[in-house]
Amino acid sequence: MTNTAPPTADAQPAPGADDVAASAHRIAKVYGRGDAQVIALDAVTVDIPRGRFTAVMGPSGSGKSTLMHCMAGLDSVDSGEVYIGGTDLTKLKDKQLTRLRRDKVGFVFQAFNLVPTLTALENITLPMDIAGRKPDREWLDRVVDTVGLRPRLSHRPTELSGGQQQRVACARALASRPEIIFADEPTGNLDSRSGAEVLTFLRDSVTEMGQTIVMVTHDPNAAAYADQVLFLTDGRIVDTMQRPTAERVLERMKGFELPGAMAR
Ligand SMILES: Nc1ncnc2c1ncn2[C@@H]1O[C@H](COP(=O)(O)OP(=O)(O)O)[C@@H](O)[C@H]1O
Ligand SMILES: [Mg+2]
Repeated sequence: MTNTAPPTADAQPAPGADDVAASAHRIAKVYGRGDAQVIALDAVTVDIPRGRFTAVMGPSGSGKSTLMHCMAGLDSVDSGEVYIGGTDLTKLKDKQLTRLRRDKVGFVFQAFNLVPTLTALENITLPMDIAGRKPDREWLDRVVDTVGLRPRLSHRPTELSGGQQQRVACARALASRPEIIFADEPTGNLDSRSGAEVLTFLRDSVTEMGQTIVMVTHDPNAAAYADQVLFLTDGRIVDTMQRPTAERVLERMKGFELPGAMAR
């Protein structure tokens, strides 16, 4: 744990500050025009504390994925600034952005997106192989041990359970020691036991390796693995919760919407 002040909806970001891994400053994203216009992000300002596990929750369509994509540099914002480790992504040219994304950002999707013809280990090192970078052996060993996949490294994805495949995808995101990992509903396709495996790994990578993780989830039990929860409604961060428990998250969710509105 750090002594970082909890981010609040209207906190000013401190780009480049040591204890902030990424931040967004009044970012807006609008889809469509006229009657079809949707304000997916409505001037969102947030700091993501370094070395902590942040969960993002909110009703379907509240802008969670858009926030992750914009903060990870996978999508552009219409206005505002996005910082990763002090660099303003919105000022970068395409090539610089691609390089920053490759070197500083890990992303885990709901679908595991593994290459079926490659082994687990080859999948884990693929991004670095493509970039022509040598994996740091010691770090890779640590990731593999934390993810608990050593006996499965030579298996292909079809020979692994869903939970194991998603753990491979998480290890792939961690392997290059990114500044920050964004995970968009990483347990959305998993049964509760496999989900717990993945969440335990994400938790351990924060606690034991100092990784910074932001994870979207619908599940109060999943959010309870995080250090803090950001609640998003209609493209705005409407609340934060420190040291969440499943019970408190569930209680808070009831306060926003009609019962069940947070459910898929
Ligand atoms: N590519 C797109 N084109 C048009 N509208 C989009 C697009 N992506 C997202 N939206 C809309 O933006 C809003 C936020 O979407 P999203 O970020 O995916 O929400 P969440 O992940 O919280 O379910 C929704 O109303 C969604 O329909
Ligand atoms: Mg989404």
